[in-house]
Amino acid sequence: MAAISLKNIVKRYGDGYPAVNDVSLDIADGEFMILVGPSGCGKSTLLRMIVGLEDITSGDLSIGGRRVNELAPRERKLAMVFQNYALYPHLTVYENIAFPLRLAKQPDETVREKVEKVAELLELKEHLHRKPSQLSGGQRQRVAMGRAIVREAEAFLFDEPLSNLDAKLRGQMRTEISRLQRRLGTTTVYVTHDQTEAMTLGDRVAVLRKGVLQQCATPRELYEHPVNLFVAGFIGAPPMNLLPATVTNGKVELPFCTVPIPSGIDPAAAEGKLLVAGLRPGHFEDAAYVDAAKRNRGQTFEATVDVTEWLGNEQYAYVPYESPEEIRAQVDALATELDMEAMRPQLIISLDPASRIKEGRPAQFWVDTSRMHLFNPQTGNNLAGQREPDTQPA
Ligand SMILES: Nc1ncnc2c1ncn2[C@@H]1O[C@H](COP(=O)(O)OP(=O)(O)OP(=O)(O)O)[C@@H](O)[C@H]1O
Ligand SMILES: [Mg+2]
Repeated sequence: MAAISLKNIVKRYGDGYPAVNDVSLDIADGEFMILVGPSGCGKSTLLRMIVGLEDITSGDLSIGGRRVNELAPRERKLAMVFQNYALYPHLTVYENIAFPLRLAKQPDETVREKVEKVAELLELKEHLHRKPSQLSGGQRQRVAMGRAIVREAEAFLFDEPLSNLDAKLRGQMRTEISRLQRRLGTTTVYVTHDQTEAMTLGDRVAVLRKGVLQQCATPRELYEHPVNLFVAGFIGAPPMNLLPATVTNGKVELPFCTVPIPSGIDPAAAEGKLLVAGLRPGHFEDAAYVDAAKRNRGQTFEATVDVTEWLGNEQYAYVPYESPEEIRAQVDALATELDMEAMRPQLIISLDPASRIKEGRPAQFWVDTSRMHLFNPQTGNNLAGQREPDTQPA
């Protein structure tokens, strides 16, 4: 097992477009690192450069402390699992898993021991004699993983391994991959465009946008301290509310109420500016469900709910509001880039499921203003700046 280090990695394809643009990332030995971002942001390109299937235009890639830019894929001792996991249809599960060992001309006895150990781990023992066509999608996925694991690689690289599976199976496989990685402790780099997968699997998550690394941090850090509007909008479902905010006399005017400026932001620098305020749906509540102690941390306000959605264990309320053209255009552009219809100018509030707030009638809400972020609408940057990055997973 080995640490993987990327220093100023650039990839330009034939047309000169930088698909990966100056990415530096240190992946610790045994760490589960996620690469996430919308389609075309360079995730697969980055992974393919690590594994050696794609040349690196410039920068340094090291594995286990050794520079490997010029090493052939085989010599890098990495195991990759692709989206279309390409099993050999004419081979049994046993021979599919054994394939890399056969290539390495290992003796039959060693092959048998290793395949059985992996089959045990992946609960494939009773399927070893079958052909891939006789397996479910999840089982096939496990065979593909078995083939990666059996090689005892320095690291596992996954490129959207679950995207061909249905939602339920994806959830199951996610838990399995997580359990397996903890058990094996193998350095893992995992590409996905699904923020739920990213948040649940990763020790740390690297968010990419158009080939540029935006933020690499623990899931909690990304959720609580996004460095910019892009990360704020991408992480979290339903997405963070992005509201127009004007700073006047050191206070922040939002569409529904006026609140104190968050700590860590220089009121003088923000004075008079039109900004974007970020507040997650979960930082709001029906005021009737907020106790006195908590109430002081935030602000109550009145608003009329347009639509409510009750889902049993959660409840959402939607409140439309007006947004000035400048902010609206920015948020619309982001919504298009992230493919998120939910970013329309409407406040999404996560309510206590017991709340009886009614559609079409004014109601009292509460918002935890201590959680509010302020972003510069032009640059997208969080005004609170960049915090010290997490060097290691917790
Ligand atoms: N062989 C290639 N030649 C030229 N451009 C390429 C090539 N492969 C990828 N690109 C471009 O590089 C950029 C990054 O592509 P990449 O496949 O890494 O994205 P991705 O993040 O994996 O996207 P997806 O989520 O759709 O798989 C895209 O703009 C893509 O069009
Ligand atoms: Mg890809």
